[in-house]
Amino acid sequence: MSADSVKVAVRVRPFNQREKNANSKCVISMSGNATTITNPDNGKTHTFAFDYSYWSHDCFKEENGVFVSTDTKYADQNIVFNSLGKGVLDNAWQGYNAALFAYGQTGSGKSYSMIGYGPNRGIVPITCDELFKVIDQNTDKNKQLQVSYSMLEIYNEQVRDLLTKPSHGQRGGLKIRQHPQSGFFVEGLKSVPVRCYKEIERLMDDGTVNRTTASTNMNATSSRSHMVITIKFKQVFLNEFGESTTKSSEISLVDLAGSERADSTGATGDRLKEGSAINQSLSTLGNVISALADKAMGKKKVLVPYRDSVLTKLLQGALGGNSRTIMIAALSPAGINYEETLSTLRYADRAKKIQNKAKINESPTDRLIRELKEENAKLQAMLSKSGGLGSRDGAVSEYIERFFKDKDYSENDLEMLLKENERKMSEINTAWEQRLEEARKEWEKIHPVSVSESDNLTKQYPFLQNVNEDLQLCGVIKYPLPEGQTVIGRAGNTPQGNKIQLKGLGIQGSHVLVCNTGTSVTLEPIDVAKTIVNGLHVVQQIELRHLDRIKLGSNSIFLYIGFPHERKNKDDINKYDYEFFQSELAEAEGFGNEQFFQKEDKDAGPDPAALRIYDDFIKILPMTAEVNAISEELGKKLVFEPYIKNLASHDALGRDKAKEVEVRIVDKENNHVWVWSKPKFINRKFIIEELYQNYVENEIDISEIDEEHDPFWDPLEPVFLGSAHIWLQSLAYLMGVDDQIEIHNYKGEEEGIVQCSLKPCDNKKNLLGDDAMVLDPTDLLNTRLDFMMCLSHCLGVKWVKNENTRGTFCKFEFYNCEEEFETKTVWTTRNPDYAFRKQFTIQPVDMEFLTYLQTHALVVQLWGTQGGTVSNRKLSTVSLTENMLRDRSGSWMAHDNQGLELLLSKEKEISALKKKLRQQEDDGLILKDAYDSARKEVFSLKQKLEILRTAKGAKSALKNKSSAVNGSNGHVTVNVMNGHVTPTPQSIDRPASAASIDAEIARALKVFFKDIKGVQQELKELRTDSEKISDDPADMLKRSLLQQHQTVCNIEDDLSACVSSLKTNVTTAIRNMKKQSAMI
Ligand SMILES: Nc1ncnc2c1ncn2[C@@H]1O[C@H](COP(=O)(O)OP(=O)(O)OP(=O)(O)O)[C@@H](O)[C@H]1O
Ligand SMILES: [Mg+2]
Repeated sequence: MSADSVKVAVRVRPFNQREKNANSKCVISMSGNATTITNPDNGKTHTFAFDYSYWSHDCFKEENGVFVSTDTKYADQNIVFNSLGKGVLDNAWQGYNAALFAYGQTGSGKSYSMIGYGPNRGIVPITCDELFKVIDQNTDKNKQLQVSYSMLEIYNEQVRDLLTKPSHGQRGGLKIRQHPQSGFFVEGLKSVPVRCYKEIERLMDDGTVNRTTASTNMNATSSRSHMVITIKFKQVFLNEFGESTTKSSEISLVDLAGSERADSTGATGDRLKEGSAINQSLSTLGNVISALADKAMGKKKVLVPYRDSVLTKLLQGALGGNSRTIMIAALSPAGINYEETLSTLRYADRAKKIQNKAKINESPTDRLIRELKEENAKLQAMLSKSGGLGSRDGAVSEYIERFFKDKDYSENDLEMLLKENERKMSEINTAWEQRLEEARKEWEKIHPVSVSESDNLTKQYPFLQNVNEDLQLCGVIKYPLPEGQTVIGRAGNTPQGNKIQLKGLGIQGSHVLVCNTGTSVTLEPIDVAKTIVNGLHVVQQIELRHLDRIKLGSNSIFLYIGFPHERKNKDDINKYDYEFFQSELAEAEGFGNEQFFQKEDKDAGPDPAALRIYDDFIKILPMTAEVNAISEELGKKLVFEPYIKNLASHDALGRDKAKEVEVRIVDKENNHVWVWSKPKFINRKFIIEELYQNYVENEIDISEIDEEHDPFWDPLEPVFLGSAHIWLQSLAYLMGVDDQIEIHNYKGEEEGIVQCSLKPCDNKKNLLGDDAMVLDPTDLLNTRLDFMMCLSHCLGVKWVKNENTRGTFCKFEFYNCEEEFETKTVWTTRNPDYAFRKQFTIQPVDMEFLTYLQTHALVVQLWGTQGGTVSNRKLSTVSLTENMLRDRSGSWMAHDNQGLELLLSKEKEISALKKKLRQQEDDGLILKDAYDSARKEVFSLKQKLEILRTAKGAKSALKNKSSAVNGSNGHVTVNVMNGHVTPTPQSIDRPASAASIDAEIARALKVFFKDIKGVQQELKELRTDSEKISDDPADMLKRSLLQQHQTVCNIEDDLSACVSSLKTNVTTAIRNMKKQSAMI
């Protein structure tokens, strides 16, 4: 026995067309055995060392479809075979088991390396070819070389024999059994004896057709499976003692499904994460590799979870067991796949630590037979004992101890083992030639029409060829369309006797009628069966044109190949792959790629992030179409629709952040809405498919599934509606913000308006005025900052329009406070009143906080609740009445001290407000009185002014008169009555002194100003009070208060106008009077 570590090779493929169109940069570089990956975002690199590094990215050209190197750097298929495949063959000849498996994300080149495309044959065909080249050279009569071939796929933890037609009923798949010595095996798997490479090639093609048929028959958009090819190679020869000896080797060649499928369940956070088995094999493979790597690093008590999945059971020997194993990690060169490629490299790095214990499988043939016989005798003894397995004799007990140890086994298991042993014995005993002959006969029975015959039909007539998500399975099935009518419809007992029978989702009994007139081909949907041609729905007969794309039902897609004369020499059939179909369908549905690349800089090419999201979207679109079709067929009223979540909506720095694809689900019956993340949707999709398959095959009653197990069901949760950004910068200057801000959803559409204010205040929650403003924010350093956050209400929320079971609430985060703050939920109104108010205190302000204020926004998120029930969302642990304090230690706490308490109960709040209202009413009356008296005073002042003016006129008249008539004592009394001036003897008696009037006016004005100032002060206080209670929860009170507030404002305005005109008038009067007095 020797300890062999798993050999690991990495290979990087060329850019595909889409990556070229996007001007992708290669993130992989290789030097010797070192492979380096560079993060396209920050230039950081990771370097790994592997046993082999193959550069197949560039430095090659195409010659008649074959990729040939233009530089020694390039590793073509032969170079890869020479270092990997040859090693596998050498091991097989020596009698070691060997395994080669390809790992990597979808489209990274696994199948290219393993199987290859067209003339670029991969390791599997070359290895088989080379094996027979050596076998053919064998001239030793005593040496018999036997090769048999088997091919299986694992889909959703079910094993399917690819060398058996899918219609041969393998419902539930083949069983995996465990042999005490040789480990796990697939019960009843066909292993076909082959005599030459051509036969292997034929079987491989046959297996691929079966795989494609199974894949297209699935009611699923994606039916990617793992494929395992096993070549059993036996050398039977006479050993040195003349005994017949068997040296055997099992070569397992594994083409795994794309690795990114492994993580689609793990991180979904879905309550049904255990529901689907779709990724079990890949994720268990990862766990097995990790456990084996730990073990190899000396970790004790490591449990290797082989038994957790079908794939790992079958690969048990290859990983940590009796095998010489190679893993080839396929890498994508494009930056867009950086994360996935890095994860593949890490995976490969772990795998290279695994230690295997390979041994040569060589035994005298007689001994093999003897052992099998002995084992069977014991198994039979166990089975024939009365009481079954319960009673055993000593020998049987020992056998059980030795082989079954702690494993569960049943009577059925023992019977199966017995059968398997008998099969092995008959294999050894039956002459090889006879077995080969039997295999040939069976082949002819299964294939009455030779491949060349069906090839002839497609050479003669137009045909439909399948398009599959897996490039390996594209164009594998061809349906010729001979002259006359061809009905395409569901497989099964349809009265019409469809000529082309399909099984995909949404295929009707008779789906479309295709008619070949000899010169043209038409297609016509039967009874509005869902038919799409070149992305567009077809409802009546149309003529098909060469290379038209046809989609029938939800996921059966075909390329129409026209008459032979229409087929140009170099039709770019490869161009019309699965992705082309999906992009075309997406575009027809209004999701053209231009909307994803709007900001594209023409020179720099499309933004990789936009490319990624477009990619994701295109992948999700057909999946949602499929789930919609299942939903409809199962009578669910749910409609699934993908949309783009824009993370910028949640970013407090307002950056243009990444986008994610999510799926929105609407229940058409009650308008309930759910939002699923992409991984959650994909996970559910697999479970929904399983459910549907079960429904179709076993006719289960869907209505009997309880909510807990229903993949369509989820509890109602709040839905994100949109967000508003309120920039905090002005707080750094102690200036308040009080705004109505639009709330935008992910599409940038307005969802409503939020009224929000942030106002600096003192520690007693008195708002600070403009005079508190600072010119330099650093003035606030080391001081205490208090501000009041008010989220009073929203206006015109669309979510609640015409819905009486919906509500809304807002939530936001602030600075580094761990708490998320939430308003209460307000139901049914489009103008919800949240009356949310909270005081934040930062003590002391530091530089970090100031920077935060100057660069960040407060992101107020609007969430929709539904169902009229209390949502199960986690409410903020900080009550609405508490305030937030950030202390010197930098941590936040809720507090209620320093007289900042708001009223605790609603009643208390309402009674206080009522009191305030009454007080305001009183204040209003007082103000009214004050206004009246002010008006009177103004009037009297005006009168005095007139008197003054008249007096001035009288004075000058008197002066004139005394000089002319020489009047009595020269005094005139001025009596102001109705604007008329009447001289009175009394007033003339007193000295007519302008100074005394001046003093009188000045005194009156002083009094007036004093009064007015008082009134103004009173008004100011009243207004501040109104502001403080503007978030009154009781609507009626609030309205009254607002009215009051408005009246008071009006009074203030009136008064101000009065004062200013009075001031002007009186001052002018005094000035004039003084002037004139001086003249006198
Ligand atoms: N070394 C290579 N040289 C040239 N073309 C390559 C190479 N590797 C892969 N390709 C091309 O890249 C495309 C995807 O490769 P492939 O089908 O092998 O991917 P995959 O890893 O098997 O994907 P999936 O998981 O979807 O089966 C194919 O068109 C293939 O021809
Ligand atoms: Mg593949």
